[in-house]
Amino acid sequence: MISASTTAAEGRQLTLATLRGLLADETRAQPHLAALRGFNQLMVGELNKCFPVAGSTMLDLSASIHGYALEAALDLGAARYEGIDLDVSRHWGASPVEVTADDGRPGRLREMNAERLDFADATFDCLLTISTFEHFHHPDAVLREMFRVLKPGGAVLASFEPVWTASYGHHLHHLGAVSDLVPPGSHLYLGPEQMRDVLARQIWPADAAVDREEALRWIYEGGGINRHSLPRLKAFFEQSPFTIEWLAPIPDESTPERAVVTAYLARVLPYSADDLLTRGLSLLLRKH
Ligand SMILES: C[S@@+](CC[C@H](N)C(=O)[O-])C[C@H]1O[C@@H](n2cnc3c(N)ncnc32)[C@H](O)[C@@H]1O
Repeated sequence: MISASTTAAEGRQLTLATLRGLLADETRAQPHLAALRGFNQLMVGELNKCFPVAGSTMLDLSASIHGYALEAALDLGAARYEGIDLDVSRHWGASPVEVTADDGRPGRLREMNAERLDFADATFDCLLTISTFEHFHHPDAVLREMFRVLKPGGAVLASFEPVWTASYGHHLHHLGAVSDLVPPGSHLYLGPEQMRDVLARQIWPADAAVDREEALRWIYEGGGINRHSLPRLKAFFEQSPFTIEWLAPIPDESTPERAVVTAYLARVLPYSADDLLTRGLSLLLRKH
């Protein structure tokens, strides 16, 4: 858990400069977080190319609880940034967390369910949501709420991977190296009993973050991922009230061996080879 210099009765308050200092310390101590910070900066930059962030009110659904997108949005001149997630207090020990830029522009992180947004209709100029639609259990409800809180003419950048039908769509990479012990795509055709037998043949790393049974529960039962296929996720967006301005598939790694296995899987599973070789999607949505 991170701590900030000033503590309010409810939540925490800090300046953008203080947040930057905390993030620098954090990424020095845990270098893998630098990539996440860079990715958030990149995606806020991508949104900015499609919809100028300066002077806008921005909502980030299931935001980086570290504040990486908050930092980037305020740096690009957002008039107000709101980031919501289920886990803000776990990280900060408080919610909301209020960050103020030198000129008084606010950025906030607060605990909220994306399926039930506590914001008035047409509050935001633009929305960002990254690495989330492979987690939301009710993407249709989230999309309805996104549409409601966006102003007419507003834009949404959504990007997410790996979805369940991708080669590592089980998302075990969140739990470290044990992810490599699961043969690519095997979660799509092995049931839990068979996967248990496959994993029993592997040497389980002594320092693994989880044991075999926890890994099995994560893959098949846990609430951390939604297990929606790529076509189903695409359909949620197509059936939403948004206009899809563009939709770009994010390709999975394709080796000659993977292509052969995928061609076979496409014959025995209800997914096309193209779907199986797609890790996720990036979309730009508009509310007209
Ligand atoms: C992989 S993280 C993405 C974080 C951030 N966007 C980033 O790219 O660094 C996915 C987040 O989705 C959040 N989440 C899942 N379901 C949610 C819901 N219904 N409402 C709000 N947040 C949710 C989880 O708490 C988790 O922090």
